[in-house]
Formats: sequence, C-alpha cells, structure tokens
Amino acid sequence: MMRLVLFAALFALGSRAVPFELDELTKYIDSHTEEYVQTLREWVEVESDSSDVLKRSDLARMMDMTAEKLKAMGGTVELVDIGLQDLPSGETIPLPKVVAAQFGSDPTKHTVCVYGHVDVQPAKKEDGWATDPYNLTDINGNLYGRGASDNKAPVLAWIHTVEAYQALDMDLPVNVKFIIEGMEETGSNGLDAMIVSKNDTFFADVDYIIISDCGWLSRRPAITYGTRGNCYFFAEVEGPKQDLHSGVYGGTVI
Ligand SMILES: *[C@@H]1O[C@H](CO)[C@@H](O)[C@H](O)[C@H]1NC(C)=O
Ligand SMILES: *[C@@H]1O[C@H](CO)[C@@H](O)[C@H](O)[C@H]1NC(C)=O
Ligand SMILES: [Zn+2]
Repeated sequence: MMRLVLFAALFALGSRAVPFELDELTKYIDSHTEEYVQTLREWVEVESDSSDVLKRSDLARMMDMTAEKLKAMGGTVELVDIGLQDLPSGETIPLPKVVAAQFGSDPTKHTVCVYGHVDVQPAKKEDGWATDPYNLTDINGNLYGRGASDNKAPVLAWIHTVEAYQALDMDLPVNVKFIIEGMEETGSNGLDAMIVSKNDTFFADVDYIIISDCGWLSRRPAITYGTRGNCYFFAEVEGPKQDLHSGVYGGTVI
C-alpha cells in the first residue's frame, strides 16, 4: 500500500520526469520500503489525538517530529504559532503549531503546496480494534494503525517523494511547499486565520494546492482534483432555566 501511495505522489510531481527518471525513482522507492514503513510506524506510535486535550503534548511532539524530518532534508521550515484554543470550561490551551515548509524557489518552475494533517481521531483497543491502534501492524500486506491512511502515510508519501528526488540527485520538477496541521480532526481551528495571514508571503507564489486527505478508490490512493468544500452553520437555541410543563406554561394540552 505504501508503494501505491508513493507512486500516486510521484506521478503528480513527475509530469516532467522522463521515463528513465521514473524508472530510477521507482527502483529507489522499492528498495527503501522498509524504511518508509518504519517511519510510518514511529509516526503512528504518537497518540496525536486532537480531540483529547490531555494528549496535547503528544500532538505538539508530532508537529515537532514532522518539522524535524523536513528540516533534516534541508527544507526551509517554520513552526507557525496559531494561538490558543478556547475550551468549554473557559480555559485556554495552545493550539498545535502548523508546519510550513518549502523545497526550492525556482521562479521558472510551478509551485505545488501539499496540505496534510498528522492529528488523529480517538482510538482505543476496546472500541473494537483487532490490533493495538497505535502499533502499526501488517496483516496480509495491509498496514493497520490509527492515522495510517488518514493522514500520516499520505503526508509521508509526499515527504518521501521529495527525499527520493534528493537522494538520486534529481532536480525536482516543481517547487514543493508543505502545510501540515494538527487540528484537522476537530475542525482545523486556527488554520483559516493562518492561511489569510500568509496570503501575501508563503502562499503568494503557490500555483497548485494538493489536498492529500481525500477518499481512496478501491483501497488505492487517489489524487483528487476537485472538492466541493464544506458549509457549516451554528444554531443557538435559548430556553428557560428550568423544566416548564407544556400544559401549564404556554404550549397546548393534548
Ligand atoms: C507491537 O505489536 C507487536 C506484535 O504485533 C509486538 O511484538 C510489539 O511489542 C508491539 N509494540 C509495542 C510498542 O507495543
Ligand atoms: C490573496 O492574494 C491574492 C493575490 O495574490 C488576492 O487576489 C486575494 O484577494 C487575497 N486574499 C485575501 C484573503 O487576502
Ligand atoms: Zn484526514
């Protein structure tokens, strides 16, 4: 499955790659599968559950790991502070920082920005998992783990694609940017404001956005080329402070 994800990423980037280059790249990917799976295992082990405020330090560690990986590859990386989250109790806690990274700034090339997230939904063995959700497990060639397909492996596939080009000393056909967040599963708090604030800087030269967090077709990763977006509405209903019997206070006796 990992190989398929990497191929999907590779073909999106490789429109200018000649067959020889693709051949070299796919050979490189095939011979590094174990490393890719090991990295995914380390990422899945981090309980980066954005819905559980008690796991916020795990989530911060996940963002740091993501940034470190991109830095180690020579990317220009920023961990963007997006402020605080208001909790229903009235307390506030820090939102996980957003990773903004860049590889290449050649003005003659297009710039592709990959979006992904490394937070996950809650998962407990008792919820009905056949395996420990935070221990990536290979069953008949399929890898099971919380966040493996949504969205840690797709994020890693893009990162490893850039890494494969670098390792083979091949010129990337496009400039590549990354926006990787840690609040997607709970509504992407803070992301909109961050995007708007970087409209004239980080996003100014971005030609294409790849949202690598969509459906897979027939268990295969897919490159989605259009989304309809979401529309949210909040309805607030106010009522009396205590129960009022319908036949006595307003309402109708039936
Ligand atoms: C993960 O599961 C394997 C067996 O599938 C086990 O050998 C290993 O100790 C587990 N790792 C952790 C960190 O629980
Ligand atoms: C972002 O910048 C583009 C031009 O690069 C402009 O058309 C657009 O209105 C800007 N959007 C916001 C929200 O500032
Ligand atoms: Zn997702």
